Amino acid sequence: MNDRELFKIAKEASLHAYVPYSGFPVGAALECEDGTVFTGCNIENAAYGDTICAERTAIVKAVSEGYTKFSRIAIYGESKNYCMPCGSCRQVMAEFSPEMEVLCCKAGGSYVSYPLNRLMPHTFNF
Ligand code: THU
Repeated sequence: MNDRELFKIAKEASLHAYVPYSGFPVGAALECEDGTVFTGCNIENAAYGDTICAERTAIVKAVSEGYTKFSRIAIYGESKNYCMPCGSCRQVMAEFSPEMEVLCCKAGGSYVSYPLNRLMPHTFNF
């Protein structure tokens, strides 16, 4: 699957976002090493800190189904600047696949791609 196809799946996932507070829907499409794709969207909460991002939704879905090796994640959000993953999502991704590719788009459809270990060097672990 090419990057654009992965973004299309992420965009579809964003339609399920629950965003009554920010009004900013995000979708993620997480590709596992065997090609299986898990999707996620952001799910907000009246207790704001309990919000979960689209990326972590996709990761917890994958891990809970027995998938822990990821090759790419496409993050879809129609933001002015590239919709980059937050620090918590970077840490959670790095737990499983520090070398995965992270694809981030912005409104208009252009995107950038980084290896996670560039976005999150020197990850906490013990
Ligand atoms: N959000 C994500 O789901 N992923 C990102 O990469 C950036 C931020 C969500 C969290 C919150 O629901 C909304 O976007 C605004 O911060």
